[in-house]
Amino acid sequence: MTDILQLYPVTQQQRALNGLYLELNLCEQAAAGDVLIYSNYIASVDGRISVRDDDSAEFVVPKAITNKRDWRLYQELAAQSDVMLTSARYFRQLAQGKAQDLLPVGSAPEYMDLKEWRQLHGLKDQPDVVVVSNSLDIPAAALEEVQDRRVIICTGEQADDAQLGRMESMGLTVLIAGRERVEGKKLRQLLIDQGFRSAYMIAGPEVHRTLIADGVLDYLFLTTQLSLLGHDAFHTILSGQLDQPADLHLQRLYLDQIESSRQLFAQFALHPA
Ligand SMILES: NC(=O)c1ccc[n+]([C@@H]2O[C@H](COP(=O)([O-])OP(=O)(O)OC[C@H]3O[C@@H](n4cnc5c(N)ncnc54)[C@H](OP(=O)(O)O)[C@@H]3O)[C@@H](O)[C@H]2O)c1
Repeated sequence: MTDILQLYPVTQQQRALNGLYLELNLCEQAAAGDVLIYSNYIASVDGRISVRDDDSAEFVVPKAITNKRDWRLYQELAAQSDVMLTSARYFRQLAQGKAQDLLPVGSAPEYMDLKEWRQLHGLKDQPDVVVVSNSLDIPAAALEEVQDRRVIICTGEQADDAQLGRMESMGLTVLIAGRERVEGKKLRQLLIDQGFRSAYMIAGPEVHRTLIADGVLDYLFLTTQLSLLGHDAFHTILSGQLDQPADLHLQRLYLDQIESSRQLFAQFALHPA
């Protein structure tokens, strides 16, 4: 079904949802000896990517904006990655059964084409995982859920020795990528040293700033769900300070014409060729 309208580059072309991001071949875009790093968010028009749930006091992605069509594209981005970059917070939520999903690529029948796509492109069944954390407060039970892939913990030089020992005793690779906290440039180099060619960043605003402040994010994919949510306790796609604004260069813009999802899919480059 061709229910996606391409708005930019201007063509007025009707497109199908499936394959919209897969055709980018993100796993083959990095120059030799480099890695391509990309992020992806779904937000409301008033910029909320998560709001605080009154009962649990946890920040969660609002159900009002999540939808299967955006999730398909999330999966297509995951399918093209060698590694997924996430936060320790994700694993803490996973341990409590509150995480959005186990790190994909999904096993539901509708995502089987993505598994085949990975095989065809010489990628492992699942992307490896890099967890960014200062505290190293990462529950063992949650890490067991991703035992089928390589898990690397990335932290700063000032990490707690006892926590470092605990990670290493679990057989995890812990790598230092910064002084007081993980730094974007060092993280990028670490990814290159580990042989990764495409890295999908799925953490929140703090890890995002870590990458953007150091100029190491290549693409931002942003789904804007056409609703206003309000709420005073929320996250947006970026927190903290930047020394200077990061310019975004629109690469593609699509309108999802399905009435029940009503959203825009945008791809921005941070450092266009
Ligand atoms: N709507 C969407 O598309 C979307 C996408 C992603 C996330 N979210 C939501 O956004 C909210 C926040 O997500 P998040 O907590 O994963 O995001 P985050 O703000 O990027 O990460 C927070 C944690 O990551 C670690 N961290 C971040 N930057 C670091 C650095 N430079 N060095 C070392 N550690 C660093 C810290 O872990 P330690 O505390 O262990 O030190 C910190 O507590 C959640 O509610 C999530 O559901 C929404």
